[in-house]
Amino acid sequence: MNVIISSLEKKHFPVMLDEVVQTCVHINKDLFIIDCTFGGGGYSKALLKFPNIKIVALDRDKSAASRAKILEKDFPEKFTFYNEKFSNLDKVIKKENEPDIIIFDLGLSTLQLQDYSRGFSFKSNEKIDMQMGLSEISAEDVINTSDEKNLKLIIKILGEEQEAGKIAKNIIKARAIKKIDTVTELVRIIEASKKKNYNKRINVCTKTFQALRIFVNKETTELIEGLIKASQLIKFGGKIIVISFHSIEDKIVKYYFTNYSSNKSNPSRYMPTKSNQKNSFFEKYKNNFLTPEPEELIKNPASRSAKLREAVRTKQEFIYPKEFKEKFKKYIDIENDTL
Ligand SMILES: C[S@@+](CC[C@H](N)C(=O)[O-])C[C@H]1O[C@@H](n2cnc3c(N)ncnc32)[C@H](O)[C@@H]1O
Repeated sequence: MNVIISSLEKKHFPVMLDEVVQTCVHINKDLFIIDCTFGGGGYSKALLKFPNIKIVALDRDKSAASRAKILEKDFPEKFTFYNEKFSNLDKVIKKENEPDIIIFDLGLSTLQLQDYSRGFSFKSNEKIDMQMGLSEISAEDVINTSDEKNLKLIIKILGEEQEAGKIAKNIIKARAIKKIDTVTELVRIIEASKKKNYNKRINVCTKTFQALRIFVNKETTELIEGLIKASQLIKFGGKIIVISFHSIEDKIVKYYFTNYSSNKSNPSRYMPTKSNQKNSFFEKYKNNFLTPEPEELIKNPASRSAKLREAVRTKQEFIYPKEFKEKFKKYIDIENDTL
């Protein structure tokens, strides 16, 4: 088992590692950092090399715990790990212990993708599991029990798949004959359903797999809750850093950072300032983000869709951002009501 893990570990490239380290350590003081998505531990390992940094790391995947143990042993005073979802950030970080930086590197790690027993990769011929950890259902449950309308909705909205209707119909037809057990069976159904490959650069199964993975792990609900908890816990002047990979994640992060920032100037200098009425958790945010450098794209093509955004917390007291959840209700409802 260890042999497998270590050979996989060699292929794990933490995305935009240099950029993450630079954005953290340019602050020349003691830092308390939360790594919400420990994964292969790339960020935590690199940051622990700095003498003035303490880290609490989280990951919902219990396989991350064994990698984290090594760091806990090497840095007993500086590093702690919790097998927990970041929507529960407030359970592990107490309000009196305010972090300077909170990092979210969203989605799957290469370690999870390359472990075919997890069923995340369409190259796998194993069970269609797709649970990151601390999940309530598997993709196999979804595929074999969800009705056609809900399946279509999941694939269309969470996968942004134009041929969701056809794929859902063919899943229902196939499972009427025999339960869909393996990734290969699901791949064949999707391939047979897709008339056109609208984007030749991506596999025809990508969007359906993305949809199932997001649904099984309630990823948009997690992200929204995680961002809200992070803004509640972080120190005034502290930073939230998010690396997103697909358009739904990116939309959510961009909206949150922009709409809860002090961006909008007063419409007229003769009008009273509105700054007291606005929920401005963050300093000015003008949709600026970083993308991987060309050298990283060559080394790790999977990083091509990464966007790194960061927002700095203002001194405004936390007011629950109800309207943020309203805005993305469509996704939250699908993840929590469908089945
Ligand atoms: C892209 S990887 C992170 C890689 C990491 N930055 C590194 O340097 O190795 C994302 C990790 O986040 C974890 N994850 C995803 N959603 C999560 C959530 N809601 N709560 C906690 N961990 C989560 C996944 O299990 C996965 O291990």
